Amino acid sequence: MPAAQAPLPPLPHRGAFITLEGGEGAGKTTQARRLAEKLRARAITAITTREPGGSPRAEVLREILLSGLIKDLGAKAEAIVFAAARIDHIDHTIRPALLAGTWVICDRFADSTRAYQGSFGGVDPGFLEVLERTTLDGVRPDLTFVLDLPAEVGLARAAARRAPETTTDRFESEALGFHETLRRSYLAIAAAEPERCVVVDATADEGEVAEAIWDAVCSRLFAEGAPRKAENSRESSGSTRKPGKKREQDEAHPAPAPRSTSSSKTLA
Ligand SMILES: Nc1ncnc2c1ncn2[C@@H]1O[C@H](COP(=O)(O)OP(=O)(O)OP(=O)(O)O)[C@@H](O)[C@H]1O
Ligand SMILES: [Mg+2]
Repeated sequence: MPAAQAPLPPLPHRGAFITLEGGEGAGKTTQARRLAEKLRARAITAITTREPGGSPRAEVLREILLSGLIKDLGAKAEAIVFAAARIDHIDHTIRPALLAGTWVICDRFADSTRAYQGSFGGVDPGFLEVLERTTLDGVRPDLTFVLDLPAEVGLARAAARRAPETTTDRFESEALGFHETLRRSYLAIAAAEPERCVVVDATADEGEVAEAIWDAVCSRLFAEGAPRKAENSRESSGSTRKPGKKREQDEAHPAPAPRSTSSSKTLA
């Protein structure tokens, strides 16, 4: 890991960093893709990435983590391996993209360590706090969506998605109580950091969830509200948003003007 990096500049002098958190099958991957499409349709450069993983070395660690090999070392060791993967992900994917002005949408991030290894794994919160601060090195999300739904609904979705010949991963295979604890943990994180986190009802249909996410991105990260769609936009038309006031508002606004948010203070 390189020596401590210079602090990231505040918004709008870099790309915005958005994370999606929540239990298994909540719709994080689906919504990360949809949000990136919406941004690109408005001529905003955006990438999607994921944790664990998101850079070549971190993807190797992902394989090890999800195989369950690390589980026997205990939740503290697991937290450290997640952190190792996160350091590489930040250094090689997230920070360079943000500095280049690219928006980064990340499917799971540090809140998942707080929930999985902290709330459920029982790792000392003081240790996790120091580990998180050292790992993130100032690269904190500007906005985090907590996709909230009952654990059994998420697990049923994840099971329906899984190919018949494949098995559950190390976390999916935990008991229902584990997933309920996770849900409470994510809600507690969101309640403790309302300036960063937005809880979205993930039981709603995919298009409605995408609309709720987009509304929050516009109100929290764009000074002027929703940025206008670029001409010849290829954004997916799967959204359920009905034509009306909101859509008119989109057309009325000029080119995107990301704002300097209070959340940028968290980047120090
Ligand atoms: N709002 C929704 N309503 C119903 N099904 C959905 C919704 N959003 C996503 N799905 C479906 O549920 C399954 C899980 O979605 P997705 O893979 O996006 O969840 P995830 O949070 O990334 O899950 P994991 O934690 O396992 O990676 C997919 O088959 C997806 O098509
Ligand atoms: Mg996923």
